[in-house]
Order: sequence, then C-alpha cells, then structure tokens
Amino acid sequence: MGRQLKLNLFIYPGGHHEAAWRHPESRTDRLLDIRFYQELAQRAEAAKLDAVFFADGPALESNVQYAARFRIEPFTWLSAIAVATERIGLIGTASTTYLEPYNAARLFASLDHLSNGRAGWNIVTTGAERAARNFGLDEHPPHAERYARADEFVRVAGKLWDSWEDGAVVADAGSGLFADTSRIHPVRHEDRHFRVEGPLNTPRTPQGRPVYVQAGSSPDGKAFAAEHAEAVFTAHQTLQSAQGFYADIKARAASFGRGPDQLLVLPGISPYLGSTEAEARALKQEFDELTSRSTGWASCRSCWASTLTASHWMPGSRRSCWRRQARPEAAASWCWTSSAGKTPRCVRSCSASPVPAGTTCSQERPCRWRTRSSDGSKATPLTGTTSCPHGCPGASRPSPTR
Ligand SMILES: Cc1cc2nc3c(=O)[nH]c(=O)nc-3n(C[C@H](O)[C@H](O)[C@H](O)COP(=O)(O)O)c2cc1C
Repeated sequence: MGRQLKLNLFIYPGGHHEAAWRHPESRTDRLLDIRFYQELAQRAEAAKLDAVFFADGPALESNVQYAARFRIEPFTWLSAIAVATERIGLIGTASTTYLEPYNAARLFASLDHLSNGRAGWNIVTTGAERAARNFGLDEHPPHAERYARADEFVRVAGKLWDSWEDGAVVADAGSGLFADTSRIHPVRHEDRHFRVEGPLNTPRTPQGRPVYVQAGSSPDGKAFAAEHAEAVFTAHQTLQSAQGFYADIKARAASFGRGPDQLLVLPGISPYLGSTEAEARALKQEFDELTSRSTGWASCRSCWASTLTASHWMPGSRRSCWRRQARPEAAASWCWTSSAGKTPRCVRSCSASPVPAGTTCSQERPCRWRTRSSDGSKATPLTGTTSCPHGCPGASRPSPTR
C-alpha cells in the first residue's frame, strides 16, 4: 500500500485565530457546550480524519482579556467525545512536569478503556513558567531538567501500563476467580525523579498504552520525540524548513533503530476555506481585522520584546519569530497594516501555517506531502464555534452562490 496521509483536528475552544470568537458567525454561547465539540468530532470522523487533539497547560494564558484563550481539561472533554464517536483517535495533552506518572497512567488507561482503544498522549513538558506557581513552586524547572523528568516519566508510565499482563482479568464467576494475580506485577521503580511501587489499579488497556505524540523542537525535544513518539506535531512557514525538520527527525529516529514510518511528522495548517482563493483571502482579512490592537501588540511584544519598532508597522510588512527562539520558523507573529494602510495591527498565528484555500485547497497539502516534508497534517481551525454548514473544520462560511 502507498503512503497514507494522517489527518488530525487540533481543537482550540475559541479557535486558533485569536479574534475568531468576535466573528459575527461565531457562537460564543457554545464555547463551553460539549455538544458542539461532540458534533465537531463527529464531522471529523465522518470526513475520515484520524484524530482530534486538545492542547493543554496548567496555567491561564495572559491574553484572555481579548482572546478566548482559556483551557478545557482534555480528559473530561475527550471522555464525552469518546461516547459520541466510534473510530476517531482522541489525543489529550498531559504534562510530565506537573503530573505524576501514576495519575497520568490512570487517566490514559481510563480513556483507552472508555474509547475502546483510541487514546493518544501529547507528551509535553510545559513551557509556561507561570504554571510553577500553581503547584507550590517558586520557579519553573529548567528546560533540560524538564526533558530528563519527561524521559523517566514516560518509562514509569509504560511500566505501569504493563503491570497488568493480557489475560490478568479472568472473571470466572463459577470458580469465583476474578483476577490472576500472577499476571499483575509491581513496578518498583526508583530513580532520580520518581519512586513508584505499582501495580496500576486499572486493568490492561485495549491498546496496551496510548499512542505517543510529541511536539518538541529544541534538540532535547527532538531527541525525546525521536526515541518515544509515534507522531510529532510541528509547524513551518516555509517548505524548506519543513523539509529540514522532516529529514532531521527521521534521521534521529533511525539512530534509535526506528524506521521512517514509525515516527510521523504532522505539521499544522490553518485553512481559510472559500469557493475561490480570493474569497478565502477575503475571509482571512476579515478575521485579521477583528484582532484587537492590544492583543496584537502583546503578542508581538512577547516575541520581539524591545526590538519591536515602528518600522514593523509599514504597510504590508511582515515579520516572523518564535518566542523561545527554539525554532524561528515554527510560529509566525505578523505585523502588518490593513489594506488601507491606516489601521496598524499585529496578529500571531501559532503552530501552523495559514493557508487561504479556494480552488487551490486540494493542491497545497499533497504537494508538501510529496516533497518529504510531512506525513499528513494537523488542521488547526481558525474558528472555534463558527458554524460551518459544509462540515469543514477550517474557517469557512457558505458562498453566496452555493
Ligand atoms: C502543534 C503544537 C501543539 C502543542 N501543544 C502544546 C500543549 O498542549 N501544551 C504545551 O505545554 N505545549 C504544547 N506545545 C509546545 C511543545 O510541547 C514544545 O514545548 C514546543 O514546541 C517547544 O519545543 P521544546 O519543548 O523542544 O523547546 C505544542 C507545540 C506544537 C507545535
């Protein structure tokens, strides 16, 4: 069989465009309505997407004043989505810095049982420094330390999931034997970060363990993904950078004895959909114009800090950056002036490349796919609760001609 694209829907409650919630077709009353997310996942499943994904972090984003940047706890939400769908994968984010392996192993084991083997784990080390103060810490652990803990964390979680062998649940009502305890083992893990006795208190799951997803872009992050992950989320603004990342991560995986198909690269796209490219571009413009100036400034400042100058406001000017400078091409913050050149604004488009797609929609991804820069895609819809009569997950609205 030839290569198959893997497609994943990255659900952000308010949509990926920070001003999406302000669009006249957005339904802010549905932002916390689980039925909306169930419907979205059902549409993604019907469209043959492979998975839905919820990002997460244990701290409030700083720009919630003007953007719907709150978080929904992924396991609660994915559990409700699991019972409304049948086949689609369910990827939840869990932090190895702010959870304990035993808690995480239970959450994923339960989600995997509940969904009959559809759980996936976006393994993050949490970049937001302010999270530390929500957990009684004065300081966020340093980057290298977070990855060292992540490595041990994943190994412990794996041992916990394996602490129940296949066949441990006998459930023989006649003899009264429920579990064969010779197939349930303690873990007895003791190392630098964790001391865990085990076994897990949940039977072995349909998949054995969740699918591992990661999104590292630093050398430590890529090394972690190369060793552990089955898929890596990433984002690129140019084909060249996407190809470089793809070759690098596959080579790193090979150094761990893993084949190229054992680690899939899934870069993000944020599609703007219209019947023509012009219509899609107009829609993009409409969204961008809704970004509040204050949100834009804050977003750009967080990237450029003191280097942000008035020259960035020249009509049509565009600059990109990556906040932690780990990968300058990963996320774009753009400053530009409106078409009339009068209303300066900044906007940040994170973790994906915006693709205004009209008639060219069907050409963009397959093209990148053939150039060995991705194994599929992670669609990061700009809209949250904008209604989409076509069942499409991107920013879209009906064409007047349809
Ligand atoms: C598509 C995508 C999704 C991400 N989701 C999360 C998330 O849910 N929570 C989080 O803390 N970090 C998230 N990140 C950040 C990554 O986990 C990672 O920290 C970041 O890419 C920087 O790489 P590094 O950790 O190797 O420095 C995401 C990154 C990307 C590209």
